[in-house]
Amino acid sequence: MTDLRKWLAEAEAAGEAQTVEGAHWELEIGALSQVNYRRGTPKALVFDSIKDYAPGMRVLSGSVSNPRLLGSVLGLGWDNTDEDLVEKLAVKPGEWIERSGDFRAVTVADGPLLSHVDDEIDLLKFPVPRWHEGDGGRYIGTGCAVVTRDYDTGRINLGAYRMQVQDEGRSVSVNIEAGKHGAQHLRRWFEAEGRAPIAASLGHHPAYLVAAGVEVPGDVSEYDYVGAMAGAPVRTVAGLATGLPLPHDAEIAVEGWVRPDHKRPEGPFGEWTGYYSGSRDPILTIDVEKVYYRDNPILLGAPPGKPPHDYSYMRTVMKSAIITDSLRKTGLPGLRGVWAHEAGGGRSLLIVAIEQRYAGHARQAAYLTSQLPSAAYMNRFTVVVDHDVNPRDLGEVVWAMCGRTDPSIDIEVMKRTWGSRVDPLTLPGAVAFNSRAVIDACRPFERLGDFPAVAESSPDLVASVSRRWPEVLG
Ligand SMILES: Cc1cc2nc3c(=O)[nH]c(=O)nc-3n(C[C@H](O)[C@H](O)[C@H](O)COP(=O)(O)O)c2cc1C
Repeated sequence: MTDLRKWLAEAEAAGEAQTVEGAHWELEIGALSQVNYRRGTPKALVFDSIKDYAPGMRVLSGSVSNPRLLGSVLGLGWDNTDEDLVEKLAVKPGEWIERSGDFRAVTVADGPLLSHVDDEIDLLKFPVPRWHEGDGGRYIGTGCAVVTRDYDTGRINLGAYRMQVQDEGRSVSVNIEAGKHGAQHLRRWFEAEGRAPIAASLGHHPAYLVAAGVEVPGDVSEYDYVGAMAGAPVRTVAGLATGLPLPHDAEIAVEGWVRPDHKRPEGPFGEWTGYYSGSRDPILTIDVEKVYYRDNPILLGAPPGKPPHDYSYMRTVMKSAIITDSLRKTGLPGLRGVWAHEAGGGRSLLIVAIEQRYAGHARQAAYLTSQLPSAAYMNRFTVVVDHDVNPRDLGEVVWAMCGRTDPSIDIEVMKRTWGSRVDPLTLPGAVAFNSRAVIDACRPFERLGDFPAVAESSPDLVASVSRRWPEVLG
């Protein structure tokens, strides 16, 4: 299941992929991708014959941007609607974590990735886009999977962290926010050895993007998680410089070392918050020792930006499922739904629906949700609604807030919580804390019995009039 080229052929056959010839790597690929995300149903776009590059050197974007594409990437088939995905994913992420031990990645001696091995480093031999007009450079790593190793346990982590080409193509910086597993790995290596091995796959089946780009617990390797998703262990090859594993059929990969004092100015970059982040701050830059690629390689792009962006649909669906699973595991009763809205980049605005069982239940749901390891990073608002409100419908959620939230008692603020440098409210150079509000938009528990009834026709009455006047109501 994890072969990008087979998947692309299937996507084309399913009418879910389109080829775009002749676009410029400078801004045109980014702008075309943005227009694609904003049409009703985006497609996967394969950019070929890119300006200044030979035909066959391709860039892919939009790979997980609609329910059919995302469903197929997750091994759930091609025929999925939004609702199907939500239903099918209700238990899947938890299962993938539990079953990852049965799908340990297998190291093999060879693979298509090793078709070309460069010691002379030139990352601009690939058609790396400058995605947004305000970007400070060309980003080769957006849909990437950055590979690091736990110094003490040897466990492998994959994380999607943005990577900007540096030094006219001779190196690449990697932006790992504090607290992420990759950052924790590097910090330990720096303490012990003064440098850390690092590798990154830059083109691959989008299942790797999903696994690397969402919060998988630290004791599970994302390679095994992809294996559990695919139903078969993934195959990796060992990098020649560091031994770090890379997907054997990756399209392009880099490998080398990072040192705490080797940094380059990075950014700005259009981020998932909808704003540019980074103001030429120096960040870790890889001493690239090897570059690997296949014949006619495909770079996987996943540029963020003002939502909807490349992976906002994927993040919303996946985070909603992951948070649901994590909340269930806390033992919270009465959970009826979670939605991590695209408008908040799948992080900043979380809605939780519960069936209230006891006084304090709504606050408990709110506080628990906003501090779950899978939800805490960059949350800003967690809203808890009663189960008669659809958490996916922002109009209904705001209606519930307007009628059931008393701001003087139902909005509480937590301070010095897990923020990010990409937060537009974080001042340059400031430590990346944030604050967040939990909003109780449930009917007050002590008034459940006598809270004013909702003024709308009952379902039976609606069904009856709809049957009698079909020519009016359809
Ligand atoms: C396309 C994409 C780009 C991302 N870029 C970054 C980034 O530049 N820095 C970062 O810390 N997280 C970034 N993230 C979020 C992390 O990938 C995500 O938090 C993931 O869980 C990190 O893996 P880890 O928990 O194993 O560290 C990105 C996610 C996606 C899908």
